[in-house]
Formats: sequence, structure tokens, C-alpha cells
Amino acid sequence: MARLFLPENRADPYTPVRELREAGAVHRTPLGLRLLTRYADCAAVLQNSAWSHADEAEMLHPSVDTEHASEELPTSFLWMDPPDHTRLRGLVSRAFTSGMVAGLRPRIEALAAELVGKALAAGEFDLVDLIAYPLPLTVVCELIGVPASEHDAVRRWSQDLARGFDPDPLMTPQAQEARATAAREFMAFFRDLIDRRRADPQDDLLSALAAVEDQGDVLTETELLSTCVTTIVAGHETTVNLVSGGLLALMREPEQLGLLRADPELIPSAVEELLRYDPPVQLTTRSAKQRMTVAGEVFEPGDGVVVLINSGNRDERAFDRGDRLDVTRYHDRREPPPRHLAFSLGLHYCLGAPLAQLEMRVLLETLLREVAVLEPLVDEPPYKPNLVVRGPAALPTRFQARKNPR
Ligand code: HEM
Repeated sequence: MARLFLPENRADPYTPVRELREAGAVHRTPLGLRLLTRYADCAAVLQNSAWSHADEAEMLHPSVDTEHASEELPTSFLWMDPPDHTRLRGLVSRAFTSGMVAGLRPRIEALAAELVGKALAAGEFDLVDLIAYPLPLTVVCELIGVPASEHDAVRRWSQDLARGFDPDPLMTPQAQEARATAAREFMAFFRDLIDRRRADPQDDLLSALAAVEDQGDVLTETELLSTCVTTIVAGHETTVNLVSGGLLALMREPEQLGLLRADPELIPSAVEELLRYDPPVQLTTRSAKQRMTVAGEVFEPGDGVVVLINSGNRDERAFDRGDRLDVTRYHDRREPPPRHLAFSLGLHYCLGAPLAQLEMRVLLETLLREVAVLEPLVDEPPYKPNLVVRGPAALPTRFQARKNPR
């Protein structure tokens, strides 16, 4: 099991994860948590609100001094249970209705065209830096109301916070320090920006949330700050990895890319398949609120569990040839496969799923229209050290334009 956690296995966690799944449904970690490997067990835990998400910090970050936690790791609604979770999620979810997200399509199309144009002009470039980061970062910053001049700082803080989702024993003291600094600076940045929005409201999520805070006791200042930070970090550190990991998977399987070229109607199915095949969030945790039984194991109140999204998504019991990339898997099947776990399930189901799906669909549409050749320049790109929010650190790539773009 330890192999799963080794940084040298970031490029391919799926081999150790398959071995674990074949060895059994449940495994104990050195931290005293139990890992779930099978789709059905992972899905059952995520869908059952008798499992809490409020203890993740204690389980994975025992080194964070809880008295000062609010100054460091802002506890957002991602790590809350009802009723606080319901109240805070409700406030943000207004910005993510399907109508609101569909309205962002023209802007996402323009951005994708601009970034792909830059990549074509460069010919050879780092796909992570030139496309995977700027697309979702710009979209989420514009939605929240972060000025363009601050996008680079937001990217740096978010990277340090996303690294900090890993269990502390897997992080160096420097990485833990960087997480604490990023949290402090990010909070201070938003405090200042919120003051500016209060004085001069704009048509953005920040102004809307600031107005809610002003109206009374619905939202405290700390909650407002942590909601902003979470939405920004969750809103791009994940999608970056869908773009880079997803395009890497397609470039490695030219036959699958060929299917998409032949029938762009497969794009929505391909996006779901890429999320299943290489989920940007590899695992999550829960703790039992009451005595629970999963996969024949008893969990007492407070016992922690790790839901291995990366394993459940490849489980042959749920997905035919689960280790195989098949862009047609989610297209118009008489017996559709189950929902993948990449966006979680249940109460914490990703709020930004429709936005992430739209960004990836638009990017694929743009690439198929404009680019004739897409190929990685290295066989094994480097990966970030992150265990939880995992993806390539860089992806040297070559693009060649289509002669007659459609
Ligand atoms: C490919 C991209 C994305 C992936 C793979 C992803 C994955 C996830 C997962 C797995 C969770 C739930 C974690 C758990 O149950 O423990 C989650 C929650 C969340 N995501 Fe995403 N996400 C993505 C994109 C986005 C975007 C674009 C946004 C917003 C702009 C966003 C905002 C959120 C928020 C606010 C939550 C917390 C929801 C709650 O606790 O109720 N995500 N995401």
C-alpha cells in the first residue's frame, strides 16, 4: 500500500491502486484510516450523510494547530456538515446554475481560441503553462471578480494550498509553511478586495456575497473569505489537471483522438471518460458519525475512511475494462455505465462540475477545429508531488495547425 503514497508513483498511481483493489476491498493506513478500493463502497459512503466531511483537517493535518486554524487553513463549506454546509453552499450555488454556466460559453470559447492560437504560434510549448492553467484560472477569477493583474498571485497561492490538501506526513516542513503563508496572504488579499467591492459593487460573485454579509447574520467575514478561497482553488487547480491529464491521455491514444475527430458529438462522453480515467481529485475522506458497516468492516463513531476515487473509477465490477480509455463509454449506451466519482457524489457533489465540463468541452471543440497534430514531446512528463489534487507539472507539447480549419 505504501507504494500508492510514494512520489515516484505520481505518474502512474493506477498500477498500485489496481493491486490494492485486487488484494481486497479495505486496507488500513499507517495513520489508522481505512482505504476503500471498490466503486460500490466508495459510492455508498459518499452518498450517505451519516458520514461526515468535517474531520478531514484533523485526520490529514494533525500538525495544524486547531486554535489558529482559521488564520491558516480556512475551513470552508467543503469541510462542513449540514446545517452550515447547506447555508453556505446555497449562497454560492446561485452563481453555478446551469443557466449561469451556459451564459459563460461565449467567453470560454473566446479564451480557448486565444490560448490555442498562442500555442499554434509557438509550435512547441508547455501545455500546462500555456493552456491548462490560464483557461480555468481566468474563468473562475472573472466569475468571482479578481482583477487580471492579480491572477498570477492567485495561481501561486492556490498551488500552495492545493499541495496542502495532502496528508501532512507526506509534506515537507517547507510545503506546510508555504501553505500557511498562502492561506494568510490569500485571506488578506480577499479582505482588501471585498472592501473595494463594498464601496464599488460590480457584477461578480464577490460583490453578491459581500452584500449578503452586510444584510445580517447569514454569513460571517471568515466564512465569506474561506468561501472565496475555496471556490477559487477548487475552481481551477482541479480543472488544470483535467486539461493536462486529459489531453495527455488522448495524445497517447491516437485511435481515441481519431474517434473524436470523426464524430465531435462524442466530446461530452469523452470529457466524462477522461474524468473517470484520470480523476484530478484522487481521493477524499469521511468519518463515521454513527456506527457504520462498509464492506463487512465496522466503523465506530469518529473512525476515518479514505475513499479512493482513483480506484473506484477503474473498478471492473462497475466499469467494463476499467483501465481502458474509451471515449464512447458515456455516449448513448442502452446500459450506461455508472456515474464516475471524479466530482464526488451526495451532499458535496462538485458545485463547479457543469463549469469544468463546459471548459473541457469547449477546449476539445477548439482543438479539433484548429489543430491537425497534437503530440507530447516527452514520454514521461514530470508530475507535481501532490497526492490528492494530482496532475502533470509540465507537459511539453507540439501543435500543428489544420490547413483548412472547420
Ligand atoms: C475537473 C474539475 C473539477 C473536479 C475534478 C472537481 C472535483 C471535486 C470534488 C471531488 C469535490 C468534492 C470533494 C468531496 O466530496 O470530498 C468537489 C467539490 C467542490 N468543487 Fe469541484 N471539481 C472541479 C471543478 C470545480 C470548479 C470549476 C469549481 C468552481 C468554480 C468547483 C468548486 C467546487 C466547490 C465549491 C466544491 C465544494 C462543494 C461542497 O462541499 O458542497 N469545482 N469538486
